[in-house]
Amino acid sequence: MQASKGKHGQHAAGEVLSAYDYGAMLFHWLIALLIIVQLVMGYAMQRVEAIAEPGRFVMMQWHKTFGILVLILTLARIFWRFANPPPEHAPMPALELMGARIVSFLFYALMLLVPLTGWWLVSVSPIDIATLFFTIPGLEWPHLPLESSEAAGHLASLVHRLLSYGFLLLLFLHVGGALKHVVIDHIPEMARIVPGYQLPRKASSPASRRFVWGMIVVLTLLGLGLGQLPRLLAPASTAGIEQKTELQSSNDTALDGWVIDYDASILSFGVDFSGAVKQGQIAAWQAQIVFDPDALDQAYAQVVVDAGSITYDDPYVSGAIPGDDGLDVANHPQIKVVLDQFTPQGETYQARGTLTIKDISLDVDVDFTYQEMEGQAHVTGQAQIDRRHFNIGTKTDGNGRYLGTTVQIDFVLMASRQSARQSASP
Ligand code: HEM
Repeated sequence: MQASKGKHGQHAAGEVLSAYDYGAMLFHWLIALLIIVQLVMGYAMQRVEAIAEPGRFVMMQWHKTFGILVLILTLARIFWRFANPPPEHAPMPALELMGARIVSFLFYALMLLVPLTGWWLVSVSPIDIATLFFTIPGLEWPHLPLESSEAAGHLASLVHRLLSYGFLLLLFLHVGGALKHVVIDHIPEMARIVPGYQLPRKASSPASRRFVWGMIVVLTLLGLGLGQLPRLLAPASTAGIEQKTELQSSNDTALDGWVIDYDASILSFGVDFSGAVKQGQIAAWQAQIVFDPDALDQAYAQVVVDAGSITYDDPYVSGAIPGDDGLDVANHPQIKVVLDQFTPQGETYQARGTLTIKDISLDVDVDFTYQEMEGQAHVTGQAQIDRRHFNIGTKTDGNGRYLGTTVQIDFVLMASRQSARQSASP
């Protein structure tokens, strides 16, 4: 008898084979596809040298989402299997049947354990990068509440790797067994799980269909809900540039102050993330500047930044900025720069002073150009800091594996002269 006879559901023994229900087929092929994509992607992102950052980083983020999907779908599939028992195997030698059942059991074990160990890995890794569901900014899948450490990260990575590649062995046995049935035994076993064949099948129960859809939705929403909790429970930021009381008055100098045109001025920063320099924006800040190129000894500048207004062109970093390993905005709503030593550097200038972030005050040098025309000043400048000196991202990525350690701050200021008397008035 030829395999083609399987279309009619008869095998060598002449008995009619039954097919899986459509729900089981859908779960089977969807999860199989995801696992194959996961294996290829996992291998590629970890071992294919030709793939550079940021490609690796992007793959890793999708890998985490697909892996969580495998976990949710597998839990739903297990329920489905209990509610809609699979059809009997075609008759086969007892040993072969036992082999098929063991492989099937191990598949289920790995479909749970591999995503769980991946989740464990990202939860204990010292590099703490959020798992954003489908990489959507703010849609955070929670990490397991475990202590992170190098040792735990290594262990989790090893277990995840070993179990992941265990899938390859099972795939080999599973596909090999199925092919043997079709090619050698002429039993159309595979037709049982492929849609389109006209084998008899039991209908799945409508109640189980509703329950399983509900289960998938509830598990997803539960995870995502828990992922939002830390943000919702964090003490509200008291940030606000309204708290600008710290801006000092400049009426202790005889020099002219400057009125900043905030709409035309830009304060921003650049830092390397995952192999590319990306930009950060500082939306709310206030500056008070007293400057005249002919009286540098009296020049003075103070800038107060609303730490809560800082964002970055990558959702993974931007989401971490307000947190305690970021700028800890709730406890330190403002960043402050005071510059009080100005020196000429040929055509340009250097200002020296103090930058205070999270109560840590360190020296900072700012290089800038200054052009003035008819009372309008155009100033461009930059400064560099090492984020680790201000305890930024030291817990999350202290070695600069993804996030560069040097942050370049850039500014463009447009300002117009204002007499000292005017600038002293409220
Ligand atoms: C069916 C699901 C999954 C499969 C088949 C799978 C497979 C793999 C594979 C083959 C690797 C490469 C191992 C290597 O050669 O070093 C890998 C690495 C990785 N996987 Fe998964 N994975 C799955 C789910 C997950 C999940 C759910 C997460 C996290 C939420 C995750 C996180 C990771 C991470 C972070 C790595 C990098 C390993 C390291 O840094 O050592 N995986 N995975």
